[in-house]
Amino acid sequence: MTTKYDTILVLDFGGQYCHLIGRRIRENSIYSEIVPHDISPEEITALKEKFNVKGLILSGGPSSVCEPNAPKIHPRLLEVDLPILGLCYGHQLLAQAAGGIVEPATSKEYGITQVTVDKPIGVLEGLNYKEQVWMSHGDTVMVSPPDFESLAHTDSSPVAAFRHKTKPIYGIQWHPEVIHTEKGMFILQNFIFKICKAQANWQMEDLIEKMIKEIQTETENGNTIIGLSGGIDSSVATAIAAQALGDKLTAVFVDHGLMREGEPEAISETFQKFPINFIVANVQERFMNKLKGIIDPEKKRKVIGEEFIRVFEEIANKSGAEYLIQGTIYPDRIESGFKKNSDKIKSHHNVAGLPEKIKFKKILEPLRDLYKDEVRKVAIMLDLPKEIVNRQPFPGPGLAVRVIGELTDEKVRIAKKADKIVREEIENNDFAVNLWQYFAVVTDTKATGVKGDARAYGYVVAVRAMESREAMTASFAKIPYNVLEKISTRIANEIPQVTRVVYDVTHKPPATIEWE
Ligand code: XMP
Repeated sequence: MTTKYDTILVLDFGGQYCHLIGRRIRENSIYSEIVPHDISPEEITALKEKFNVKGLILSGGPSSVCEPNAPKIHPRLLEVDLPILGLCYGHQLLAQAAGGIVEPATSKEYGITQVTVDKPIGVLEGLNYKEQVWMSHGDTVMVSPPDFESLAHTDSSPVAAFRHKTKPIYGIQWHPEVIHTEKGMFILQNFIFKICKAQANWQMEDLIEKMIKEIQTETENGNTIIGLSGGIDSSVATAIAAQALGDKLTAVFVDHGLMREGEPEAISETFQKFPINFIVANVQERFMNKLKGIIDPEKKRKVIGEEFIRVFEEIANKSGAEYLIQGTIYPDRIESGFKKNSDKIKSHHNVAGLPEKIKFKKILEPLRDLYKDEVRKVAIMLDLPKEIVNRQPFPGPGLAVRVIGELTDEKVRIAKKADKIVREEIENNDFAVNLWQYFAVVTDTKATGVKGDARAYGYVVAVRAMESREAMTASFAKIPYNVLEKISTRIANEIPQVTRVVYDVTHKPPATIEWE
């Protein structure tokens, strides 16, 4: 980077929402870097060579500060001459490190909570006496450390927020980065602008520049392959890599036969117009053979992840490419459990689904820290076609994770037809633009029906439609009954093997968006 941006460092204690803090800061045109939780004062000083470090935020995390091996801050962290804000686990750690009392809670606070703001000062300046916040914690700060004062409480948290009496050190028990905290952004802005006095001098364009330079350096401008699924992530990664590498880049679209109906043709048509080497690998049979007999969803993801890499390696052998670029984004990585302190939810095929032995010198993931809506913003800046910018997310393993149980040609055909009907019927309505995703799942349950005058015994198809901002949490869409009715009637009538259609009314969490 040429300019030194005012920067907030986010110390990562393994919380699901750690990177969300980073992106909320970026939304305010302030640069942020995620750093290890035990970063030392000397390492922070070294970072000042590259960034104008203006403040530190300690993220939340799944551990309990009362456990002996829980991740801790560096013992001298509080000596750094920078404003500090601890959130949730970070709040408890600050309390513990400065001599307060933290106890495992008798009742956990989870979800939306009312907080009473006793002193609306510092990061809480401008807040009302009562505020709606989002909590998710087990431990509780019972007594503020000496030299600190309590600023807020809830029914179960006597010290839900505090500050050091003379230094710019704050802790809050709730999550301002989560949208359910009504004044969350306001609190973060208080911290970054009023307490840290950071200047908003960073823009998304700077990130594109950074990614281009990173690709050029990491690949030494050598022959490189990129996996292109036609989804927004890999399309954006391709557009950036094309700017970085020009004709040293080969984009490979793996047609594994598990795409939506009409999709391989649409993708080929779009990308053949791009000034890049574009290859379609027709490997439908090969994927189906590898997936024969596999029922376990994690195994399916692993087999698909491995096969993708093998296809890329074969093409790389021919073109002499030594590097592979993937469009992995942040939620793919966190849900694949890439961090020491976070739980694995599922193996996104291009992350944890990778085989151990890979012939590439390096795999690059230029979008690794971004959320989907940020990727969309980058896509708009790069002038990518509308059909790519607005395309709903589609998982790398494709329909394989939307056909429950063993994949058969019949079930894949049903999945394609049902998915097409769901798309057509939903896209007939204005509300479609507000949906994150909508699709059909072929379950492995069968049910009795009556078609014509005869008994029928066929598949149960589930319809799922979700609203979300960044896929970390999502709500099922309350789409009108008449639309659901049309979808159900069409699926049951147009697909003879289906006798029943159900609508999935589960949020994420506790469910995930995809069924497998
Ligand atoms: P889940 O099911 O984990 O999905 O709630 C979150 C978002 O990620 C998409 N998804 C994937 N994308 N490779 C991908 O590129 C994958 O293996 C994968 N699995 C899920 C999913 O469609 C949703 O938008």
